[in-house]
This record gives sequence, structure tokens and C-alpha cells, in this order.
Amino acid sequence: ARVDKAGHRHFMAKEIAEQPSVIGTALTHYLTEDGRDIVLPGGTPDFTRIERMSLVACGTAYFACLTAKYWFEQLAGLPVDVDIASEFRYREPPVSKGTAALFVSQSGETADTLAALRYCKGRAGQVLSVVNVPESSIARESDLALPILAGAEIGVASTKAFTCQLTVLLLLALKAAHARGRIDDARLSDLLSQLRALPATFNTAMEIDPDVRIAARDLSGAQSALFLGRGLMYPLALEGALKLKEISYIHAEAYASGELKHGPIALIDETLPVIVMAPCDALFDKTVSNMQEVMARGGQILLISDAKGVAAAGDETWQTITLPDVDPVLAPILYALPAQLLAYHTAVAKGTDVDQPRNLAKSVTVE
Ligand code: G6P
Repeated sequence: ARVDKAGHRHFMAKEIAEQPSVIGTALTHYLTEDGRDIVLPGGTPDFTRIERMSLVACGTAYFACLTAKYWFEQLAGLPVDVDIASEFRYREPPVSKGTAALFVSQSGETADTLAALRYCKGRAGQVLSVVNVPESSIARESDLALPILAGAEIGVASTKAFTCQLTVLLLLALKAAHARGRIDDARLSDLLSQLRALPATFNTAMEIDPDVRIAARDLSGAQSALFLGRGLMYPLALEGALKLKEISYIHAEAYASGELKHGPIALIDETLPVIVMAPCDALFDKTVSNMQEVMARGGQILLISDAKGVAAAGDETWQTITLPDVDPVLAPILYALPAQLLAYHTAVAKGTDVDQPRNLAKSVTVE
């Protein structure tokens, strides 16, 4: 079927706006009718026998894998390796039967990811994939393919596929955690009910749009930007930097907040915007001290947090964006929104080709 922009100026804007609905579709697919349990319609891996997981992908899908590492390790107690597909395939790492190899790809056709999958066939105990295109090569060649059900994604920079990948990966990690006796029924049901509420929360979060536009206007004049995040927000910072590079052509890099002192602090001056992604969680105090270190050197901070975090940060920041409260476990899905909108509005302010950025392809099917 032909896909149009449904009144939006760009496919990217349409796909950002679709997220509450497609996240809802993915949740419906993987939850029982009463919403209280997770079902994997294609079959459930035996998580009690899996010793470790190996997650492999490219681009935005790779950052979904990095996020999932925190979930599988913290919730399910499963050790996880995460690799960029082009590195994995030529490094030829040892892969044993105790390993479940998991490949994440929107298109299901990325050449390096497919080659990495083929390398794992016959070596890993199981080959799983999280894909948007169910009839793709990666889906067909997996033992179990989990669809993300995001619908056609046209914008080259991935948006709704990313949040749907995260949703499915979180459900998989929760399923593993439950099977391995790492999460009790009460906590599982609490997280599932918060997940069911996520599409509505995401909708409310769309109200940040005018604030993001204001920040983007300033950001569009920058030469370079630095994204910082800790824990589950670290992969999100990487994704925010990637989005900005891809569509606004502003150089951006991301660092784990704790690494600030080990290099990037040397770059801080009045001209380098620093975007901090940090819900007010257990590690927020540490992030506040990182922000103070930046501001003491004249650095301009854009803080993306919740109301508590924004209040705790004081009024010395350049700008703040306030998202609704959400359980820290679910935060990466919600915090993808400001990362996407910031890149989008910056690109629009600069007048770049948002849906077809120069030199990039939607699907990289050759090396
Ligand atoms: C390209 C796209 C990215 C995407 C990456 C991986 O670089 O521009 O948006 O994240 O490929 O694609 P895949 O289809 O494997 O998720």
C-alpha cells in the first residue's frame, strides 16, 4: 500500500507522531488480552537454559541493543554482549550453544547484520531476531523472529522502529526475567501496567514540541553538540547524537556522563551545547554534579528530565525540557521522543532534507 505523509510536512514527523499508536500495537501483540502476561506468539525461548546473549545490529538498531543490555542484565541476570554487525562478523568471536544470538534490524536486510546472523547459525544455541519486515531475509533465517509491527518506515532516520524495537526488547527481557525467577509477579504486573499506559504517556509527552523547537532554533547555529547520559540514558544519548548528525549535519557525539572528565570536558566552552538526558532516578545526583562541571566552564546545558529533575537542577541551565514521570525501566522509550524531535526541528530550522539526508540510505544491503 502507498504510504503518504498524512498531513505532516515530512515522513519523519508523521512517524514520530505515530509512536503512541504503533507502540500500542506492539504491546497488544505481545500481551495477553487482560494485559497481565507476556506471550510470544511464535514460540518462547527457554530462558532458563540460556547462559548469555549476543546482540548484534547496525545504526539505530545497535543503540536499541545497547539499551536492551541494561534490561537483560539488570532484570533477567543474563550477561549480554553487544556488537556492531560489521565488527562482529569479521572478528569471528567464539559463540557457544549456551548463547542466544539476537539480531535487531528494521529492514531485516542489512548486509552486515545478515552476515553476522549466518555466522551464528549452527554455532549459537538459538538465533533470534527483532525485525520490522516479517518477510525479510533476517526474519526468514532466524529460529524465532519477533516482529515489531511499526508499519512502513519511510524516513531514512529511524524513529518509530526504534521505540517499537525497544518495546519488544523490554518485553523479551521481562519474559526472561520472569522465567528465570528474577522478577516477582507483583513487579512484573506493575511494569506491564505502566507499559500499557505508555502510549498515553507518550501522547502527553508530545506537548514538549514547542520547547524543543525553541532549543532547536539555537542548536541549529552550533558547529557541534555533546550528548550525555548515564545507565539506560547512555544509549539514548548515542541515539540523540546519531539523529542530529544524520539529518541536521551538525557534528555530535555522545558520552557516558561519568566519562566527561576523561576527555570531552576539554571541549567545553560557550559554543558547545551539551544535551543531558536524565530522568530523576537513583543516579541523578551524579548527573547534577556533571552539569555543574560543565556550567562552571561556561558550557550551555539543555536538560531533558522530569519535573523533579528539572526543579533539582536549578536555574542555571540554558534550557530544560520536562517529560512526564515514568518508571526508570521504561524511560528509554519515552526519552527517545525528545532525541528525535530535537534532531527533527534542528534539521527543519537548517533547511536540510529531513527524509532523505545526503549520502545516507534507508537500508544498507551492500557493504
Ligand atoms: C541505515 C539507516 C538507519 C538504520 C541502519 C540499520 O544506516 O539509515 O536508520 O538504523 O541502517 O538498519 P536496519 O534496517 O538493519 O535496522
